Amino acid sequence: MELCVALDLPSAKENLALAESIRGYDVWMKVGFRAYIRDGKEFIEALKKINPDFKIFLDLKLYDIPNTMADAAEEIAKLGVEMFNIHASAGSVAMKTVMERLSSYEKRPLVLAVTALTSFDEANFKEVYEKGIDAKAEQFAKMSYENGLDGVVCSTFESRAIKNATSNDFLTLCPGIRPFGEDAGDQQRVATLELAAKEGVDYPVVGRPVYKDKNPEAKVAQMLKVMAAL
Ligand code: C5P
Repeated sequence: MELCVALDLPSAKENLALAESIRGYDVWMKVGFRAYIRDGKEFIEALKKINPDFKIFLDLKLYDIPNTMADAAEEIAKLGVEMFNIHASAGSVAMKTVMERLSSYEKRPLVLAVTALTSFDEANFKEVYEKGIDAKAEQFAKMSYENGLDGVVCSTFESRAIKNATSNDFLTLCPGIRPFGEDAGDQQRVATLELAAKEGVDYPVVGRPVYKDKNPEAKVAQMLKVMAAL
């Protein structure tokens, strides 16, 4: 497992201070809507300056017509980030178009598809997708696998079934991780690191439990220690 820390703080200054405090650790940095909309490309460059080995996951969850998504994917590849994501519900044509467009890049970023947002509970999910979370997440994952994506964003609770239905190498990135019983906030399906390891999660994602902690550096160190012992 490789730990991914969400940089969701209210200013670039605070996010960069957080990145600076954990620069010595081998972790992924997740740059989401808030940071990217506000701080853009310069923010990615500033992170790479803090630690050129930081791997960056640009969590922009693309969802549009296939050609527009492929155009955006190409711009993302030019940014030099290591991973980004799209919504699986954009469909298989969008997936194929994005992957085809990236195929000319020698070092293309990993592409994941969002299956079910971890903030959905069963009732709210069904309201939108009609099926239950498990069945739909698995269907989205199969579609993503068949169209050449590298993995999916899902909850820890779907990770094992998704790997069984696709391949063990098909990556699962799982937000909603609460390593030491922290407040779930708006997340409906939260899990510990122990459970994430058991379910074969490749990338556990942690936001608030790290950046709301009094000592984020110690928290990351503590999590890495738990992960190393699993
Ligand atoms: O603070 P917390 O640990 O809940 O943060 C989870 C992060 O993962 C947030 O940045 C959120 O936007 C993101 N995310 C998520 N569920 C998804 C995809 C991304 O919670 N399905």
